[in-house]
Amino acid sequence: MRVLLTAGPTYEPLDPVRFLGNRSTGKMGYALAEAFAAQGTEVTLVSGPSHLPDPASSRIRTVRVETAEQMFAAAAEAAVEADVWVFAAAVADYRPAHVAAEKIKKTGETLTLELVKNVDIAATLGQSKRPEQFAVGFALETENELAHAQDKLRRKHFDLIVLNSLRDAGAGFGHDTNKVTVLDGAGQIVNFELQSKADVARGLVSLILARLTLPL
Ligand code: CTP
Repeated sequence: MRVLLTAGPTYEPLDPVRFLGNRSTGKMGYALAEAFAAQGTEVTLVSGPSHLPDPASSRIRTVRVETAEQMFAAAAEAAVEADVWVFAAAVADYRPAHVAAEKIKKTGETLTLELVKNVDIAATLGQSKRPEQFAVGFALETENELAHAQDKLRRKHFDLIVLNSLRDAGAGFGHDTNKVTVLDGAGQIVNFELQSKADVARGLVSLILARLTLPL
């Protein structure tokens, strides 16, 4: 069995020394890669810039990228052969419309940046998902969490969506622990307790493997 995983942030360059990024560390995605490999699956881990070292398992192939566009290209290549897609990356929704060839100099009192929309990796790949392929997305919502997550699941053709809690201390960006709720298209919900990201990853992998009709 093969898994495609996206993880970490993306960096969108502004000039040769600056970028727009976010605080994702990649911890949840890397923990998922390890948990899948421990179950004997082959993993392609498409990772944005993360300080974490490449996972040691020989079952995990790590592909390092920087921008959303590069992440899309690497993910699209691995997606065709993969039985399961897991989109754990915090992809920048927008990138600078122009990348300056030289360092942007300090001139006026204000600076306005024009941003253009990035490709939605999960939604775009979802359009060509085959019936036997299984897709899992992540969502971080601040209000109407369940309704927004369910809507995202439909829009992006996910079979499961993992809702990250923002309300609980110790959950989310940069922490070693996480608290998630998993939803499917039928509205079934599984709540995970606050636990280490490694344990959340093991729980998610068991849930995903149990949902697959594929022989392991
Ligand atoms: N995602 C992706 N490519 C993007 C943006 C998001 O693959 N350009 C994936 C993420 O990896 C995650 C899911 O889509 O699995 C949800 O991302 P999110 O940014 O929360 O969704 P959006 O559609 O951007 O919704 P919002 O309007 O809430 O930002």
